[in-house]
Order: sequence, then structure tokens, then C-alpha cells
Amino acid sequence: MKDNGNLFLPSGHSTIAPGTDALFDFIYYVSIVFFAIVVFAIVYSVWRFRRRKNAGLTSGVAQNTTLEILWTAIPTVLVLIVFAWGFKGYLRLYIIPKDAMEIKVTGQRWFWSFDYPDGATSVNDLVVPVGKPVKLLMSSKDVIHSFFVPSFRIKMDVLPNRYTMTWFEATDTGAYDLFCTEYCGAKHSSMIGKVRVVGEREYAQWLESSSKAGEGMPVEDYGAKLYVQKACITCHSVDGKASTGPTFLGLFGEQVKLEGGGTATVDENYLRESILSPQAKIAMGYQPVMPTFQGILKDKQIDALIAYIKSLKKNGNK
Ligand code: CUA
Repeated sequence: MKDNGNLFLPSGHSTIAPGTDALFDFIYYVSIVFFAIVVFAIVYSVWRFRRRKNAGLTSGVAQNTTLEILWTAIPTVLVLIVFAWGFKGYLRLYIIPKDAMEIKVTGQRWFWSFDYPDGATSVNDLVVPVGKPVKLLMSSKDVIHSFFVPSFRIKMDVLPNRYTMTWFEATDTGAYDLFCTEYCGAKHSSMIGKVRVVGEREYAQWLESSSKAGEGMPVEDYGAKLYVQKACITCHSVDGKASTGPTFLGLFGEQVKLEGGGTATVDENYLRESILSPQAKIAMGYQPVMPTFQGILKDKQIDALIAYIKSLKKNGNK
């Protein structure tokens, strides 16, 4: 994959990118040319009309009609060119091809989740086939996020209680950065992922393997994989350090104090409830910011995560 990125943007890998980049370059170089002209005129005038002995203070020129027409007409033409060109690009961005495959995107603090047409789901990893238009139907479960893939030149706000849409057609296989580009709280900077563009065949294989995920592997290992894949890692450490949420290390079997009084024993039911209804019991000293994983995790995956948390014992004792 050749990378012809520049100072401002990474290389483009969608059908939209070339048009956007061409307009960007046009505005950029026109700006440089006019910047040079203006700076040259300033420097020249400062030198040419510097204070001298015996020099009169007035030039005798009151007006230059030709110059005035030129500096009105040229910028007007340039601005109209930019408008027409930009409007064409706007239409290209907002008219979604009819045959586009639709993927549901959900933003929440602080991860992205994706629902594919055939029932597969993924977190922070959007997998799409190359050379096919993909429509993203997006909404948020909490605050405003913004979906940004620089390599595709697409960016769209993701709002609660409303759908927004965008689309792209990737032109090259590879993994491209995905960012949340609207400040959405403490872990905004962790709300990142990848768009993995794969061949048609690989995409079909991925869909199939995602429905069989976890088969033929120890349940704790599957849980460890999900811990990263489903973005638990954003807020929960496994090394004993408190983060946005409690650490998983040595958590199982503990008595935890709860906000609002009372205690709870961390057992299977407590963990399951904390995953599906995170607001039900809040551990003392933490904010009630965890989103629900209802609909994101299947029962089998919840079991695997619980098994993984169970396996994280302090110093191997207990
Ligand atoms: Cu979501 Cu920033």
C-alpha cells in the first residue's frame, strides 16, 4: 500500500478522497500565492515609500479603477469556483448510493459498536469489504460523539435520540484509524478504533468466524480476548490499578462497598448485573458512567468474561 500522505492528511483510501483532496490542494495553493503577493506588496511598499529627505508626502494618486475592479473580480471568481467545487463534493458526501450495505454504528462512552446486516457485531473494529459502498447509520447512547476516518475523508457527528448517516467506499484493503472527534468526557481519547478493509472472501470468512467466536478455546482465554475486543480495557485494568472503573485483578470474591451504602459480594450474578445493568450497583468511589452491554454481548460472551475475571487472582492465592 503506497502512502502518499502529506503534512495535513494521511493518504486517501476511499472514492471520496481524491475529490476532497483536489479541492483542498486548490484552496491551499491559491492561499499560498495570494499570501506571497500580499507580503511582497507590503515589503515593497515599506521600502519604496520609506521616509526620505526632500520627499513629498502625497503621491497625487486618488484612485486606481483598474486595480479596484481586479481585486474585486478575481477573489469573487475564486470564491465562486470554491463554492461550485465544494457543493459538488458535498453532494458526493451526502447522497448515499442505493445499493450500499448498511451497518449500524453506536457511539457511547467510550467505545464504538457495530451491527452488521447478518447479525454479527464488533466493538471498535469496523470490518468492511473493499470496493463496496457502505452506509453507516449512526446514533449515540449518551452524549455527542463524532465518527472520523481521516483516510476516507469522512466525519459525521453521532447524536443521542437521532440518526445521522454517512457512507464510504474503500478503495484499498488495509487498516485505517477511526477516531471520536468530539470531546465526550474523560476517556474521549481512548475512543479509537480501526476500519479494517478486507477482500470479499475474507469478509465472508470474518462474518462466519465472528458467529463461531470462542469455539475451541479455553473459556478464560476467550474472556481475555473479549476484554480487549469489547473495550472493557478502556476503563478496567487487570494489574490492580484503579481506572475509570475498578480493576479486575482480585475482584472476584471481594466484598465491595457500594455508593449509597451497603456492600455486595462480587460473584457471578454481581458481575452479570454489572455488565447488563451497570447503574444498579455502583462501587464506592466510582462514577456511574459505564454503559450497558445489553445487546452487545451474548450470554456466552458474558460467561467468558466472568471466567476471565475469576482467573485474575492476586499473587495466585485465594
Ligand atoms: Cu466519543 Cu469523544
